Amino acid sequence: MAGIEAREAVENWGLTTTKASFIEEAVQNGQLYIDQPYELYSDANHEAWRGLYSRMLPRWRQYANPHFLAGIDNLCLDATRVPRLDDVNRFLSPLTGFKAKPVSGYVPAFLFFDRLRNREFPTTITIRDARRLDYLPEPDIFHDIAGHVPMHTDKAFAETLVRFGACAHTAAELVGSVKDETERVHRLTNIFKGMARFFWFTVEFGLMRGEGGLKAYGSGLLSSYGELAHSIESPEVQRYPIQMEWVVNQYFEIDKYQPLLFVVDSFDHLFDLVGQLDRWMRAGRLDNVAPGEPEMSEQDVKSFLEAAVEHPDGSGLYSAAAR
Ligand SMILES: [Fe+2]
Repeated sequence: MAGIEAREAVENWGLTTTKASFIEEAVQNGQLYIDQPYELYSDANHEAWRGLYSRMLPRWRQYANPHFLAGIDNLCLDATRVPRLDDVNRFLSPLTGFKAKPVSGYVPAFLFFDRLRNREFPTTITIRDARRLDYLPEPDIFHDIAGHVPMHTDKAFAETLVRFGACAHTAAELVGSVKDETERVHRLTNIFKGMARFFWFTVEFGLMRGEGGLKAYGSGLLSSYGELAHSIESPEVQRYPIQMEWVVNQYFEIDKYQPLLFVVDSFDHLFDLVGQLDRWMRAGRLDNVAPGEPEMSEQDVKSFLEAAVEHPDGSGLYSAAAR
């Protein structure tokens, strides 16, 4: 009896955020990279996708940048059902080499950036509760597949992500060469802050100036019904041309609409900025950024420090993950 009830509970919740026993088991078993068990999605899960997609579509047409809109078309996403990642990848990979890879939860920072460098995007497979479409305690498949992945169909944007992933290797090598442990962690947490802020204000919440005026390309905006319009229309939002000095020193809060956003001219501009970020890192300009969010978890610190190891032939440090 208990077994039947348990099975019904699984069937009822399907792959709902924070309620999926399939995910809980994967986490308990230490499986970060998983399959997408498509048959586990419940009717309510598909309904959530349908509801999210149908109300976003007119807003995307109004506020999303044209590269994103082309991406939505190129991916041939089904508006009515949660997408299969294999189907998404069939359309995505030939364009830029990127693939969406299912994960069970949070990917430690270095590993996440290293995946990007390898043109893989760690993708959440759970979806928010159909009754609370606006409430999003953590990323879900709508944020990842409908917010991020359409951008990965664009060549210039994809190259930018790969270059950003390479910055994580630069960071691991730089901090790995610091002998004093306290100093090493100090430098790492500062560099990480700078990188995470840059990622936040571009990949997650970036705006771009184009022919049709200001448009969103950040996935946090593109997957939020309320904030997408707010980011473009609201007089309360400060919008400034992006400046490296500012971005890497600017803290942010994740649980409210962003009051400050930065604007790029193009993805070539963004690509150049990632190059500048790498140069600043090497020049020590991220070693003491302004305090504040985001903080770096122990798991994130460990992921970077484990990546930088002494080469066995004594030729110096290199990034282990680059092997
Ligand atoms: Fe995201």
